[in-house]
Amino acid sequence: MTTHAAGQFPVVRPRRLRAHPLLREMVRETTLSVRDFILPLFVRPGQGIRREIPSMPGHHQLSVDTLVDEVAAAVEWGIRAFLLFGIPVHKDPVGDVALRDDGIIQQALRALRKEFADRVLLITDECFCEYTDHGHCGVLSERGGRLDVDNDATLPRLAEQCVSHARAGADVVAPSGMLDGMVQAIRGALDRAGFATLPILSYAVKYASAFYGPFRDAAESPPQFGDRGSHQMDPANTDEALREVALDLAEGADIIMVKPALAYLDIIRRVKDHFSVPVAAYNVSGEFAMIKAAAQKGWIDEKRVALEVLTSIKRAGADLIVTYFAREAARWLR
Ligand code: PBG
Repeated sequence: MTTHAAGQFPVVRPRRLRAHPLLREMVRETTLSVRDFILPLFVRPGQGIRREIPSMPGHHQLSVDTLVDEVAAAVEWGIRAFLLFGIPVHKDPVGDVALRDDGIIQQALRALRKEFADRVLLITDECFCEYTDHGHCGVLSERGGRLDVDNDATLPRLAEQCVSHARAGADVVAPSGMLDGMVQAIRGALDRAGFATLPILSYAVKYASAFYGPFRDAAESPPQFGDRGSHQMDPANTDEALREVALDLAEGADIIMVKPALAYLDIIRRVKDHFSVPVAAYNVSGEFAMIKAAAQKGWIDEKRVALEVLTSIKRAGADLIVTYFAREAARWLR
């Protein structure tokens, strides 16, 4: 297909389509909508808590009661999908509290389900890094004198976490630990527990990125030693992304996540072109913080820059965008 018109200047003048603001809008290829957004929220045990997250202005660690208020306010702005992260008070080496029926996410799910019924889509981040005292994404074992996440030993626990969240009211589970075989383990467990129609949004393509810095403050989940380089992807790779997606789809993933977004727009595009499946992109904490910080200094126009970034993520091929800008963007787009 040829994408350029035949002919030359002065017969052809691309500026004709840009001159009238209404026409310019009518030929716009990419439109952002509040329906594209998923708002991440952080919940911790307690009552009446609204603890500011310094590196993520406007975001707070919330208790279940204030979380319900926060979701109600977002729903007013038209936001319908939420990604929940739990911050337990007690952590241990294996993250047992993640699996408990009275765990923080389980409590949050029940409260939100009760309050909002089917008016919200509740997505749960499935990983252990927020629940382990060492901050790694699963149980550890020693190999060659080095402690590392034990992939296969973590799988059944991850599956158990997902089933527990499904029982508490999750609409979608989103495993984010980059474990090999995680989608297969979760799919099997959900099916056996009677949740065969509950979708999996897999963080299939997750890079070992420095852009997660503010999130780790927010979720109190920085690794206490080492890093996540043994399971998250090398930012230099792209073929590997397609391989990860192919595997997750074969294991039953329904939606594919690419993360981060901004420095990986080429990956979003490649995944979207290669597999005709819904793609989500995670506009991560560092991407949010950079814009907020520069805007606070008066160096950039926050609204224009944020909408430009969100548009670029959609234009690259993302159908859904997880973003800390969801509330602001909903307001700006109204
Ligand atoms: C893991 C998880 C992380 C993020 C989402 N899920 C942190 C990590 O991999 O270290 C980061 C999100 C962000 O930076 O906004 N549970």
